[in-house]
Amino acid sequence: GDTHKIRSSLLDWYDENQRDLPWRRRTTAPKSGNVKNFKKEEEEDENRAYGVWVSEVMLQQTRVQTVIDYYNRWMQKWPTLHHLSQASLEEVNQMWAGLGYYRRARFLLEGAKMIVAGGSEFPNTVSALRKVPGIGDYTAGAIASIAFKQVVPVVDGNVVRVLARLKAISANPKDKFTVKNFWKLAAQLVDPLRPGDFNQSLMELGATLCTPLNPNCTSCPVSSQCRALRNSRNDESVMVTDY
Ligand code: ADE
Repeated sequence: GDTHKIRSSLLDWYDENQRDLPWRRRTTAPKSGNVKNFKKEEEEDENRAYGVWVSEVMLQQTRVQTVIDYYNRWMQKWPTLHHLSQASLEEVNQMWAGLGYYRRARFLLEGAKMIVAGGSEFPNTVSALRKVPGIGDYTAGAIASIAFKQVVPVVDGNVVRVLARLKAISANPKDKFTVKNFWKLAAQLVDPLRPGDFNQSLMELGATLCTPLNPNCTSCPVSSQCRALRNSRNDESVMVTDY
């Protein structure tokens, strides 16, 4: 049905069009099923989780283009969670200079200290991640799905807009109940085999094609599933302003 078509169209599009971002790069080959490599792969998942965490926190109030430089400098200075856990608040704030909302940097440091103090195993479920200082629903969902392949949704402003248009839901995106409903909707839609890529495809679509103004519907991989587009075929302004 529609759900399967939406998943496969978004994933195919993402495979072709995803931006090459430093936190999306893998350092070793994907899962081999080889017992000898198991430990290594587990470590890599944890390092990926650290990279996803740092990048997603930076991305919360800052544009991708700006984040890339900050992310690369951060990772050069503190390549692993363990390195970060030994940093001082002054160093972390200095590294964060220009990004604003310095609370986010302090939470990263406090979170790193907490995880390392607890034995260094990176939390790999939404509920365990939510216990880390500064990690809310959004960051927990992003880390769990992207780094640990947990089948959980991620909803940010971009995802709300994409889903609202796809399902033609007119609602105030600032309303708490609206956001709750979109988490439910996203949970039903998330691809069970590639949850991290699926979640990122929604964010990516919202950032690049399904923009607040003048969405590029002609290039959109899910335009034929989009109810907003169908409803307002003769009046583009409706879909631009209502969702
Ligand atoms: N915006 C925030 N996180 C993102 C991600 N992982 N992919 C694309 N856009 C994003």
